[in-house]
Amino acid sequence: MCGIVGYTGFQDAYDIVINGLRRLEYRGYDSAGIVLEGGDNAFEVEKTKGKVDDLVNISSKLKGFAKVGMGHTRWATHGVPSDRNSHPHLSNNGKIAIVHNGIIENYDTIKIMLTEKGFSFKSETDTEVLVNLVQYFMDVNPETDFPTAVRYALNEVYGAYAITVMHEDYPGVLVVGRLGSPLAIGIGDKEYFIASDASPFVEFTKEAIYLEEGHMAILSLENGVDIRTINDNSKIVPEIQELKLNLEQIEKGGYEHFMLKEIFEQPKSIQDTMRGRLLVEEGIIKMAGIWDHLEKFKNANKITIIACGTSWHAGLIGEYLIEEFARIPVEVEYASEFRYRNPIITDKDVVIAISQSGETADTMAALKLAKEKGAFIYGICNVVDSSIARITDAGSYTHAGPEIGVASTKAFTAQLTILSLLALKLGKHNGNLGNAEFMSLIAELNAIPKKIEEVLEATHELTQNIAKDFINATNFLYLGRGYNYPAALEGALKLKEISYIHAEGYPAAEMKHGPIALIDENMPIVIIAPKKGHYDKIVSNVQEIKARKGKVIAVVNKGDTQVSAMADYVIEIPETSECFSPIVASVPLQLLAYYIAVYRGANVDQPRNLAKSVTVE
Ligand code: F6R
Repeated sequence: MCGIVGYTGFQDAYDIVINGLRRLEYRGYDSAGIVLEGGDNAFEVEKTKGKVDDLVNISSKLKGFAKVGMGHTRWATHGVPSDRNSHPHLSNNGKIAIVHNGIIENYDTIKIMLTEKGFSFKSETDTEVLVNLVQYFMDVNPETDFPTAVRYALNEVYGAYAITVMHEDYPGVLVVGRLGSPLAIGIGDKEYFIASDASPFVEFTKEAIYLEEGHMAILSLENGVDIRTINDNSKIVPEIQELKLNLEQIEKGGYEHFMLKEIFEQPKSIQDTMRGRLLVEEGIIKMAGIWDHLEKFKNANKITIIACGTSWHAGLIGEYLIEEFARIPVEVEYASEFRYRNPIITDKDVVIAISQSGETADTMAALKLAKEKGAFIYGICNVVDSSIARITDAGSYTHAGPEIGVASTKAFTAQLTILSLLALKLGKHNGNLGNAEFMSLIAELNAIPKKIEEVLEATHELTQNIAKDFINATNFLYLGRGYNYPAALEGALKLKEISYIHAEGYPAAEMKHGPIALIDENMPIVIIAPKKGHYDKIVSNVQEIKARKGKVIAVVNKGDTQVSAMADYVIEIPETSECFSPIVASVPLQLLAYYIAVYRGANVDQPRNLAKSVTVE
C-alpha cells in the first residue's frame, strides 16, 4: 500500500529518493516524507500530508545535502493522513528512523509495554511503535548493536512489513526487513538502492536482490549486503537477478496519463501474453506452468478461482471459459470472503489465484488457506516474483508489463488472455474440444490484438464525444449477458473508481428484478450487445429500457442494426467469438470511463482513497 525507497552511495540521496517516490506514488499518495543523513551524521526529516510534489515544496532545500537517505509515500492504514502520521518516524531518542510498508497487527500491546517503560508517541501509527521497540532493545542492553536490535524487534511483531531503518550512530548503514510486503535491493557500483519495486533504480543498475519472506539485510558500502534470517540470524547467500524492466516501460511515453497509455498498450500487451504460448499454425498452446499438471486439472473435483476487484471480474469470465471448454466445475470467490468462511477444499481441488500485483493481502491469505487444505495452487500474476507468484505450485505470468495507473486495464485483458489459453488447452487435453473448433478458436484469439487496434482507432474520438454528454451524470447502469455480464461489472467498476460516479453492473436479464425501478430519462445505461451471445434477449432488454426513457449507450458489432436503431449512442466493435468478446468490448468501456473522469477533472492515475496494491485486509 505504501512505497519505500532508500539509498546509500555517492550520488545525491535527495534526488534518488524523490524520483523513486514519484515512481512508487501509485502505491499510495496521501502523504510523503524523507530522511537524510547529513555530513555530521545528524538526520534531517521532512514529511507532509499530500503528494510527493507537496513534499518537494517543503524539502527542496535538502537537495545536495546527503549521500544516504530514505523516503516513503503513504496509503493510510493506522491514523488519518496528516503530517504527524507521515513517515519517516523517529524513535524517542531521535537517533533511529524508519519507513514501513505494511501493518503491525500487535502494535497495541507493544505500545502499552513501551508506554509503561516511559516511551511516548507523537503519531497514531503502528510504525512509530516499531521504531521505538528497536530503541528499547538497544537501551536495555547497550551491547546490542543496531541491526541486532532491528532483528529482535521484528521477532516481536506480527503482521506484514517491508521496512528500512537508519541509525545516526551507524552512518551509511541501511537495515531492511521483509515479511508479506515486497522489497527489492538494487546493487550498483559503490551504491545500494532499496525500493518496494525495482522502478526507482532501473536506470542505475540491472542487478537486484528480491528479499525473501522472513529475511533482513544490512547494507553498507564497507560491508556490502549481509542477508540474514529474521528468526535465527542465519546467513543467506543472496540470489542476484537481472532486471528485465526498462525506463520506457515505467514512463508515460507522451500520454497524458498512465491509464491512457496502458489502454493503448493492449494490442501489444495481449500479444506479449500470448508470445511463445500460442502457436497457431502448429495448433499448439504451450503453457509451461501447467505442462506437468494437466492431469491434476483434468481430475480436479473443482477449480476455485480466488481474486479481488478487477481480477475477480476476470475470474468470472474464467469460470465461463473453463466450464464451457474444459467441462470442469468452477467456483469464483472473493478472496476476502473465502479466507474467513471455512471453504470445502481438499487435495483434489485446484485453486487459481488471479492478481495483477501479486501482493493483495486477501488473495494471499486465501491462497495460504487453500494450500493448508491441500489444494494445488495455480497463480496468474502480472508482477514477476511477487509474493503470490512465489507461493503458488505453478502458474502463468500475464507479461502485460508494469501497470502503473491505479485502475487496472491492460492487466485485466491479459488475465482474460491467459484464462482463454488455459481453458482452450484444458479443453483440448480433456478431449472436450474437437480439433476443428480448437483451431478456429486459437486463430480467433490470435486475431484479438489486431481487433483491439481497430477498436482503439475507431472509438477513441467517439468515446470522448460521448463522455462529454455524461460529465454531470450521477448514476450509471452497465448491462451484459453471458460472457459480457462480468465485462459489465468491470465497466462499472472502472467508471466509479476514477470518476466517482456511482455505477452498477448487472446481468441484463436481472434488470427487471429490481434495477429497472431506477430507469428514467436521467439514467445512462451502457449495454454490451455483440451479435454472438443472447443477442435477441438483449434486444428485448433494450426495448424495456427505451420504454422507460433510459439513455442507451450500446456496444455492438459493426453493421448492427436492431440495437443500434434504439440506442442513443452506438459504439461499434469488430465481431469475434463470444468467449473473447469481453476482451474487445472492455476497451471502449475503459476509454469511456477514462474520458468521463478526465472531463470531470479527476486524477485518473491516482483516484482518491485507492492504491495500486492492497496489502492490508
Ligand atoms: C480496479 C483495481 C482493483 C484490483 C484489486 C485486486 O481497477 O485495480 O480492483 O483489481 O485491488 O488487485 P490485484 O489484481 O493486484 O490482486
